[in-house]
Amino acid sequence: MAPAEAGGPKPDHLNERKAESPNIADIWKDAPILKGTTKFDPLPDVGTIMITGGAGFIGSWLVRHLVLTYPQYRVICFDKIDYCATLNNHHILDSQPNFTFFQGDVASPADVTACLEQHKVDTIFHFAAQSHVDLSFGNSYGFTATNVYGTHVMLECAKAAQIRRFVHISTDEVYGEVDEDSEDLMESSILAPTNPYAASKAAAEMLVNAYWKSFKLPVIIARSNNVYGPHQYPEKVIPKFSCLLQRGQKVVLHGDGKHTRRYLFAGDAADAFDTILHKGLIGQIYNIGSADEISNLTLCSKLLREFGLSESDDWISHSQDRPFNDRRYAVNGQKLCDLGWQQKTPFAQGLKTTVDWYRKYGEQWWGNIDNILGTFPEIKSPPLVPEHKMHGNVDLTLREEREAMRGPRPTSINGVFKASENATKSAHLNGEISKGDV
Ligand SMILES: NC(=O)c1ccc[n+]([C@@H]2O[C@H](COP(=O)([O-])OP(=O)(O)OC[C@H]3O[C@@H](n4cnc5c(N)ncnc54)[C@H](O)[C@@H]3O)[C@@H](O)[C@H]2O)c1
Repeated sequence: MAPAEAGGPKPDHLNERKAESPNIADIWKDAPILKGTTKFDPLPDVGTIMITGGAGFIGSWLVRHLVLTYPQYRVICFDKIDYCATLNNHHILDSQPNFTFFQGDVASPADVTACLEQHKVDTIFHFAAQSHVDLSFGNSYGFTATNVYGTHVMLECAKAAQIRRFVHISTDEVYGEVDEDSEDLMESSILAPTNPYAASKAAAEMLVNAYWKSFKLPVIIARSNNVYGPHQYPEKVIPKFSCLLQRGQKVVLHGDGKHTRRYLFAGDAADAFDTILHKGLIGQIYNIGSADEISNLTLCSKLLREFGLSESDDWISHSQDRPFNDRRYAVNGQKLCDLGWQQKTPFAQGLKTTVDWYRKYGEQWWGNIDNILGTFPEIKSPPLVPEHKMHGNVDLTLREEREAMRGPRPTSINGVFKASENATKSAHLNGEISKGDV
């Protein structure tokens, strides 16, 4: 079976599960509830946990895991609902008494402080970020605004609120490229990021460390390998290629496809964060490592096999490479394993679970995904400095300028924040936000 031409008929067997797809508005009702597997004795000094970026991929795995595993903890999902997020990722929790969604922006001290104070937060997991390397080559100011300034806001507000634990989520990319014959990198290795995304994450870490040293803010940093699994927005390689193959279209690899990445199933990542919460030591950095190092070419072969397709039928093509593309990352995760964490999901099993999920839900979970399945997609976002300001008209106050950039702000109704119309649209939802969403 060969790939379908653009606009042409799709190979029949690739459509076989479409008929089973549930109604779009209720799609989350049909989906399996996916979370991690670990369970620790609850900590007496943890009451309310705020998870920024909790409507995105990894954050939502931890939100589901903590809400359902620890009914004694209250979990606040704090999210702006950016283009890659959807309330579908945690709709299933709406009826849980220990779950609350709070729409807000990590780059807004007012939003963050309101959430911390209203909910008496004592523990923070800071996942919210612009997370897609490809986009950071084109819209790098947005990465600094969210990942660096947003982290600074989170730290300053956490300091004022006397937070007990602040777990900052970072990435293996902060170390930069690792040679094939080099040892796996320890947490003490030098940071040498090579792309704007990784640089913004490394810069954020500098601030986290500074708040630990200067103010004794109780921080922990986690640097993870690539995470994959259901609920990941299909801009990243595994869900994107799964959706393309499901559509009967070929996949396009950046460059020669020989770059390798280490992949960790999202359930194992949720366990890692659970372990760090319950066993991690304040002031420490933990690598979250995977044993599964796979080149992009090998990944494609495995995906083709999942779809019952043959490599000889020309399903893979190549484009020019990223401006810079690290050949590989390699972290040593022993320090976290010493706390009791282990990678449990073999790559073959995790990939099958993932592909099955995208075949069933990928086309509808986030609404229309046509615009992000291209080789180098662009997400349109407002300019960081409004155009009239760039041309010398300087009568906006700083506050007005920020308002202009952010669109309508969330409004507080009876002490709970209600999503703005603008953000609701960007969440790719098909209905209105109901009471259960806030
Ligand atoms: N995905 C990976 O493989 C991977 C690997 C290592 C580290 N990380 C890190 O893990 C974290 C989560 O990654 P992900 O893959 O789940 O990302 P994601 O893009 O799926 O989710 C990011 C979430 O942050 C939210 N967000 C963005 N800007 C915000 C803002 N200004 N205010 C509030 N919320 C905002 C988005 O709406 C979204 O829900 C990131 O910090 C990322 O750097 C990811």
